Amino acid sequence: MSRKLRVGVLFGGQSGEHDVSLVSAGAIMKALETSDRFEVVPIGIARDGRWIMHPDAHTMLAAESRLRLGGKSSRPVDTKAISEAQAALVPGGKVGSLIEVGKRPASPGRIDVIFPVLHGPKGEDGTVQGFLELAGIPYVGAGVAGSAIGMDKDIMKRLFRDGGIKVADWELVHRSEWRRDPKAVVTGTERIGYPCFVKPANMGSSVGISRVGGADELRAAIDEAARYDTKIIVEEAIDAREIECSVLGNENPRASVPGEIIPAGDFYDYASKYVDAQSELLIPADLPADLTAEIQKLALLAFQTVDGAGMARVDFLVDRKSGRVYLNELNTIPGFTPISMYTKLWEASGLSYGRLIEELIELALERHADRADIETEFDIPSAD
Ligand SMILES: Nc1ncnc2c1ncn2[C@@H]1O[C@H](COP(=O)(O)OP(=O)(O)O)[C@@H](O)[C@H]1O
Ligand SMILES: [Mg+2]
Repeated sequence: MSRKLRVGVLFGGQSGEHDVSLVSAGAIMKALETSDRFEVVPIGIARDGRWIMHPDAHTMLAAESRLRLGGKSSRPVDTKAISEAQAALVPGGKVGSLIEVGKRPASPGRIDVIFPVLHGPKGEDGTVQGFLELAGIPYVGAGVAGSAIGMDKDIMKRLFRDGGIKVADWELVHRSEWRRDPKAVVTGTERIGYPCFVKPANMGSSVGISRVGGADELRAAIDEAARYDTKIIVEEAIDAREIECSVLGNENPRASVPGEIIPAGDFYDYASKYVDAQSELLIPADLPADLTAEIQKLALLAFQTVDGAGMARVDFLVDRKSGRVYLNELNTIPGFTPISMYTKLWEASGLSYGRLIEELIELALERHADRADIETEFDIPSAD
């Protein structure tokens, strides 16, 4: 038998979605461990940014988590030893490496592929992907540009609009402008009307998002969003059904059956996503065949528009009255537990959780190999 593929699973991170990442990564590692093709190398990123490459890194970060995470280990964890097992990524050109700088290497050896299970800024936004590019290590999911675009709601919406994909109308607000001249900002966003949604441009899991019913609530909402990003968007609210579709592949991606979310709260906020878990997922969504086909087609177009790779969950708002389909956002690293929408949609489309993870790793290796022969030098033409 050929040797096992060493899969580095990256989790935690320095974003408001640190805890959510731990939930997704825990499930992925569990699935990888049941396969005899893979060896898991857990790599935690602590809230302060330290990379911890240690078999117990997940247990340690989970112990500090504010979300109640299932499957916590009851055995005591030697936090000091784990903290010393820091990892360093060494940009190594085409043959990259990830090394440990701790006293005792806990998992020495080369890593074949990295599965970044990081949500939000400094993980899902192209920064970690750029790091892995420099190190020459294959990784799951979108590359630098696709990740960065998928994280920035303002840039993403501009590209969708340019590609002829309908999006809810919005205004971009810079935090500096908001601090300097809030009155001008309020006037500038008036045309969006109420209700509207105020969001940090770069975030996820509904962190920092408010639904604003009237002018008196706008200021507090912008202040809240400005805690998380320097760019804020004020967006027209659509009275809509929330329909999501999973995409998988590189250059020839495929789309899953769509699903519908029935949020427990006023809208699909952080609490109704992760805390009270009363929200419902309807899979497949009850939609007429032509609407299903339209959504799948738009999901693939969106994926290609942002230069997606590997996976993405594409989220739509379908206007309850007009039936118009708006693209809300595209997530390059969607929630990834067996009960998450992304994975459940594939399950319903005939692809199991375990097989989905395998396929994502194959796609990562494929993309890396495909790009490995890109010329990095060229012959300078002579003057004569
Ligand atoms: N324009 C909108 N109209 C109606 N609901 C919206 C709109 N924008 C966001 N929402 C609600 O807020 C939730 C979170 O917004 P979203 O843009 O998806 O941010 P996140 O990246 O944090 O998931 C959505 O799932 C939806 O319930
Ligand atoms: Mg969303």
